[in-house]
Amino acid sequence: MGQTLTEKILDDHLVEGELETGEEIGIEIDQVLTQDTTGTMVWLQFEAMGLDNVQTELAAQYCDHQTYQFDFKNTDDHRFLRSAAGTYGAHFSRPGNGICHNVHRENFAAPGKTLLGSDSHTPTPGGLGELAIGAGGIDITVAMGGAPYYIEMPEVVNVRLEGELPDWATAKDVILELLRRLSVKGGVGKILEYTGPGVETLTAPERMTITNMGTELGATTSIFPTDEQTQDYLERVGRAEEYVELQPDEDAEYDDEIVVDLSDLEPLIAQPSMPDNVVPVREVAGTDVDQVILGSCTNGGYEDILPGAKMLEGREVDKKTDMIVAPGSKQASEILARQGWVAEMMAAGVNFSEATCGACIGIGHVPASDSVSLRTFNRNFEGRSGIEDDNVYLCSPEVATAAAIAGEIVDPRDLSDELDDLEAPGVELPEEYDASKTDLISPDEAVDDELVKGPNIGDVPLKDSLDSNLAGPTLLKMEDNITTDHIIPATQDILMYRSNVPKLSEFTLSRIDETFADRALEADGGFLVAGENYGQGSSREHAALCPMYLGVEGVLAQSFARIHKANLFNFGLIPLTIDEDTYEQIEQGDDVEIVDDVAEAVKSGQEEFTVRVNDDWEATAHLDASERERDILAAGGKLAHTKAQAESGD
Ligand code: F3S
Repeated sequence: MGQTLTEKILDDHLVEGELETGEEIGIEIDQVLTQDTTGTMVWLQFEAMGLDNVQTELAAQYCDHQTYQFDFKNTDDHRFLRSAAGTYGAHFSRPGNGICHNVHRENFAAPGKTLLGSDSHTPTPGGLGELAIGAGGIDITVAMGGAPYYIEMPEVVNVRLEGELPDWATAKDVILELLRRLSVKGGVGKILEYTGPGVETLTAPERMTITNMGTELGATTSIFPTDEQTQDYLERVGRAEEYVELQPDEDAEYDDEIVVDLSDLEPLIAQPSMPDNVVPVREVAGTDVDQVILGSCTNGGYEDILPGAKMLEGREVDKKTDMIVAPGSKQASEILARQGWVAEMMAAGVNFSEATCGACIGIGHVPASDSVSLRTFNRNFEGRSGIEDDNVYLCSPEVATAAAIAGEIVDPRDLSDELDDLEAPGVELPEEYDASKTDLISPDEAVDDELVKGPNIGDVPLKDSLDSNLAGPTLLKMEDNITTDHIIPATQDILMYRSNVPKLSEFTLSRIDETFADRALEADGGFLVAGENYGQGSSREHAALCPMYLGVEGVLAQSFARIHKANLFNFGLIPLTIDEDTYEQIEQGDDVEIVDDVAEAVKSGQEEFTVRVNDDWEATAHLDASERERDILAAGGKLAHTKAQAESGD
């Protein structure tokens, strides 16, 4: 049987396991990327591993999420990141140089390679035939140390594209159509592989808009085959030699198939406040628009901003609407500036922002309360723009610019009929992406050779190997559906301590109990008890790291959210499942003891554990873990486990 493109790349990188859906596989990682909110912990952990240099072919550290400096803390973080990149051999992209995915695709993404990144939109270079996956920070650290990345083999779904996009329909409408059909959960546990005759009609940047937003479908990643379009893009960015032809076998078998006829698409829009709340633009036409932002990692390339510039040539932004361009990279701004488009847009009433995530996470350009903002971004979750009562719509650059001109949501086809010289701008790539690379510092140009740690940079806490005796008080009893936001809130005033675990830990579970951190430190050991779905929400690893720092030994819950459970293993906390009766019976403050020799039991594969409460009654708890997860837990976490493996030469 032939192979899918996904299977071919995975096969090339396979170091453990078999490519059977649901089986755990280990793959070799060629490239890693980190950004500034996740990167500090990545490098502190890398330092703790004691390695001299990054072991992957390429590592890149970007500063994009928090480039505005409110006080010394972000600047401290950026200076530390530059010093870490220099010390360990990674590329460093200065604050303002652009969003990680845009700068990466311009400079490093390459067909057939594997990329692991500590950002959820890491799959963006799938549009160039790179197999790119988002993961937690510790996974990046370990991959940089040369270890494989482990993942359950996802299903591979064939997304067959037919036809060709009509005027005014764009790549953004392709992914919005998939979100409309499949919902934000439609891609979970899947890799979306694009095939069919429609593929060759899309340029590489258009493909990368689609793969970027595969994340909104919950997909592990998305990937396109390579062809003349890929070759063309690589030539224009000056990396023609990196082209490799990659196609699935003709008789490849997929787990599922979805067909999208590009010719049937029309301009679409995601209404507030979910990326899958998609309707045709014409259905919401006439809605007044207060703000338009064109940019972000989804639609912030030269090819995305140029259509807006062409549409605005000789026109003005409506007086009651503010329009901001937030470029994905400084390269895009620089080329547009040289060509005169920046001046053209400014004259039309557009404000240019620095190339940063900024507005996408509510840092800058926060909309007025209860106003309407049209953005070319990928997410419109309630409150993400910086205010709770926001109304954020997601759309293509063409739809956003049409709304800026009209002052209300308008189908660009109707606006084009009204203004008879307004033509569909189409997609145009520059002859050559000939921007300076001043803000991208290669390992050869590094300006630091040792780590620079300001007062906002703490030490990374380490845990000893798992004890044989685990006993302590029930520090907190919680309900169902506790989120990682409950465990470590993500507000700007708290997350600025992301590089300082002792300080950040003071806020652990403070939304539920303000005294928690003090009590946990004083108890020096103990357990958390929770109902169903403990740890749902983001992949934030601080939600396991901070409890570990405070001395928590484990969590007894009725069930766990998948990624958080993995994070508990990664930081050496035992996640035990209990039944409803046990949950009901156990009280906060009760003394808990795991009767078994825990270290031995975990290593030997034991699944049932006896929990004794207040020396009075006993219950059974379950440990559901793979052999690798048991090894990680027994070692005291992933860092200790990797270090031990490296020392033993395993
Ligand atoms: Fe940045 Fe928003 Fe993309 S935070 S990485 S622009 S999703």
